[in-house]
Amino acid sequence: MTIEVAPRTEGTAPDERPTDQARWWRDAVVYQVYPRAFADADGDGTGDLRGITGRLPALAELGVDAVWLSPFYPSPQRDGGYDVSDYCDVDPMFGTLDDFDGLVARAHGLGLRVIVDLVPNHASSEHPLFAAALAAGPGSAERARFVFRDGRGETGELPPNNWQSHFGGPAWTRVTESDGRPGQWYLHLFDPTQPDFDWDNEEVLALFDDVLDFWLGRGVDGFRVDVAHALVKAPGLPDWGGRADGASIPGFPGEDAPMFDQPGVHRIFERWRERLESWGPDRILCAEANVAPLSRAAKWVRPREMHQAFNFPYLHAPWDASALRAVIDESLAAFGGVGAASTWVLSNHDVVRPATRFALLDRPVEMGHGIAEGTGLDPALGERRARAAALLMLALPGAAYVYQGEELGLPEVLDIPADQRRDPYFLRSGGAVVGRDGCRVPLPWEADAPAYGFNATGQSWLPQPPQWASYARDVQRQDPASTLSLYTAALQLRKSLGLGAGSLAWVRTDDAVLGLVNGEVLVLTCFAGAPVPLDGQEVLLASAPDAVVDGRLTADATVWVRARRADGSEGA
Ligand code: GLC
Repeated sequence: MTIEVAPRTEGTAPDERPTDQARWWRDAVVYQVYPRAFADADGDGTGDLRGITGRLPALAELGVDAVWLSPFYPSPQRDGGYDVSDYCDVDPMFGTLDDFDGLVARAHGLGLRVIVDLVPNHASSEHPLFAAALAAGPGSAERARFVFRDGRGETGELPPNNWQSHFGGPAWTRVTESDGRPGQWYLHLFDPTQPDFDWDNEEVLALFDDVLDFWLGRGVDGFRVDVAHALVKAPGLPDWGGRADGASIPGFPGEDAPMFDQPGVHRIFERWRERLESWGPDRILCAEANVAPLSRAAKWVRPREMHQAFNFPYLHAPWDASALRAVIDESLAAFGGVGAASTWVLSNHDVVRPATRFALLDRPVEMGHGIAEGTGLDPALGERRARAAALLMLALPGAAYVYQGEELGLPEVLDIPADQRRDPYFLRSGGAVVGRDGCRVPLPWEADAPAYGFNATGQSWLPQPPQWASYARDVQRQDPASTLSLYTAALQLRKSLGLGAGSLAWVRTDDAVLGLVNGEVLVLTCFAGAPVPLDGQEVLLASAPDAVVDGRLTADATVWVRARRADGSEGA
């Protein structure tokens, strides 16, 4: 297949703020660290900040640009730390503020930026402000920081509306007032231990201004904003018959959900952007923007708002050429239309790992729900597709997010015993929903060390599968055909060829093959059907050792090859 380098055709809408065009985040590769499961320096079985610091050189070697840390703040850990009881400290299980400063200094010394998680939609019910709200009683300024309402029914015995929690059951819990009687209800879109803040309250805005300043002052390069889509609720909190997670169903399009993407969110994002810019031009906000279609998320990354928004439609796209093409086009049009770069992501701490997701023979997986043991899987196919998907993603113009262990090709752990599972999805559904523990198992670093090098004691808060020795980083580092070697090579080439800052032109799109040119690289992914002849073009990188057989690209594989110029010479 001979391809000519095409002029830029897509993803190049003019930026209203040309100075942003060269900013680091636009083409960065950001590596998500889930602190409980990354590396454990003190050997208690739970990862910690010193563990992360000690392993940062491995991330620099991998070639990522930034590290995003999921929450490490004081927390009762009812939702993996997304239930924060103090926004300006480190939980003792993860270390101290000094350890955090040490981590930032080491990261910066290695050329890695550090992004931390901001969890503004809800606090932990053990946050002192919530304790004060309970104590102060109805009508108080303390209660006004959260969403307290009187119940419906004769004696207020019914919840104020019919909203459901993401983790199952009503999104409201009734409190007992200080006189011992059943009293008001408070809103929690997630677990009852995660009361929602009221973002119409100026005090809440001021509280989080201070949180931003606290971490900016410690040198962080940005924030990933948890549940950014739900901060503001529709006035009057009207009933909602749609899904708790805002996914559209017949009769209830997600766009109409009264708890998602309300107009008031923009005021908050603008305020935060201004605040970050007062610290300099390079600190970023990245939204967990679980809204569809992407044109809605794009409104959040207009020049005066956030810098990035997660691309959930891309994350949820099946292994299917036309679905992927459609979401890539939609992303470039939506984000490019407001002058922002697109982001791309294949996994995070909430979804089934790609090597397993793409191995599923029969059905898609819902966000957060996990999959059960015994589900029909073809693991070899899953691994092959995950590697092909990675090589396609890393060739796209924009920023990419990589979740820890993805670069090792780790599969989801399916056989965690029920009594060791921690996810509220699992606990609140009585085990009916498997939940997210399977993608949160501590990483394997060294094949022959205790807990595969996660720590020196062999303890692990979730059990590591016996077959994980073969996934250990030290084994993969020595193996040029490993998934780690593939990611390392891809990140190096992506950088040297400027793919993240490049552009995209389709050269082939049908049910079997996607072909695109970015700069002087032709990227081909074969999904099915007859092998695609490469016409002798130099293969720069292939997603599998047997991706190319007899000069032809085989199914479930991606290659990067040198695109030919119109005069027949090879680019790059
Ligand atoms: C986000 C987090 C998820 C958490 C939820 C509630 O979706 O990614 O892990 O459970 O917010 O904070």
